[in-house]
Amino acid sequence: MPFRHVVSFILVALVASLSAACGRASSTQEVPGDPKAGAALVQSSNCSGCHGARFQGDLGPNLIGIEKRRSPAQIAAAITHPEPPMPKFDFTSRQVADIVAYLSQLDGGDASGGPGTQPKISLSPARPRDSATVTVEFPGAPPADATVEAAMSMGHAKMGTYPIKLNKTSDPHKLSAKVPFGMGGAWMIKVRYDKTREVDVPIEVGQ
Ligand code: HEC
Repeated sequence: MPFRHVVSFILVALVASLSAACGRASSTQEVPGDPKAGAALVQSSNCSGCHGARFQGDLGPNLIGIEKRRSPAQIAAAITHPEPPMPKFDFTSRQVADIVAYLSQLDGGDASGGPGTQPKISLSPARPRDSATVTVEFPGAPPADATVEAAMSMGHAKMGTYPIKLNKTSDPHKLSAKVPFGMGGAWMIKVRYDKTREVDVPIEVGQ
C-alpha cells in the first residue's frame, strides 16, 4: 500500500474512533438517569453480592459516595468496561445512566429507607458541656460493629476519644453511647460502622 494511502487510512480510523468515543461520553452525560430504574437494575444484577449488602464494600469497593470520587463518565466506564473479577453486564447506555444516577445518590440521606440511607445522629444535651449521650438511629437493623468517637484539632494538635462501642437501646433501630469531651470548642462526632462507613457531625461544646 503506498504511503499516502496508509496515512489516510490511519486518519479515517482515528476520526471514526474519536467520534465513537465522543458519542459514548455524551450519551452517558447528557441524559440524566432515572435512579429508580437504576435501583431495580442494580438489585436484579446482584451487584451487592460483591459490593456489600449496603454497598459498603466487600470483594468490590465501597460504592457509597462514589460520585465524590469519580465523574459520571468514570462510573459509567467502570460498569461498561469492568476490571475482572467484576463481570461485564449487557446494559444499554440508557440503563448505565440509570445505574450511575442510582449509585450517585446512595449517600443522599433521603428517608426512603433504601440501602445506603444514612443513620441519623442526635445528641443529648444538644449543646453539651463536658459529655453527651450520642444516639444513632439506623434505617434498618443496626450494625453490630458501630462505634462513636469525638475528635478535635487545634492547629496541628489533635485530640479525641478512643472509639466507644454503641450499645443497644430499647428502640430496635437506635444505638447509643456516652461520649466525654476534654474541653470546650468545635468537636467532630464520628460514627463508624460496616467496617468502612463513617458519618461525621460537627458539634460545638460549651465550657
Ligand atoms: C463478581 C463481583 C462483582 C460484581 C457482581 C459487581 N462488581 Fe463492581 N466491582 C467489582 C470489583 C472487584 C471492582 C474493582 C475492580 C478494580 O478496579 O480493580 C468493581 C468496581 C466497580 C466500580 C468502580 C468502583 C470505583 O471505586 O471506581 C463500579 C462503579 C462498580 N463496580 C459497579 C458495579 C455494579 C453497578 C454492579 C452490578 C451491575 C457490579 N459492580 C457488580 C466486583 C463486582
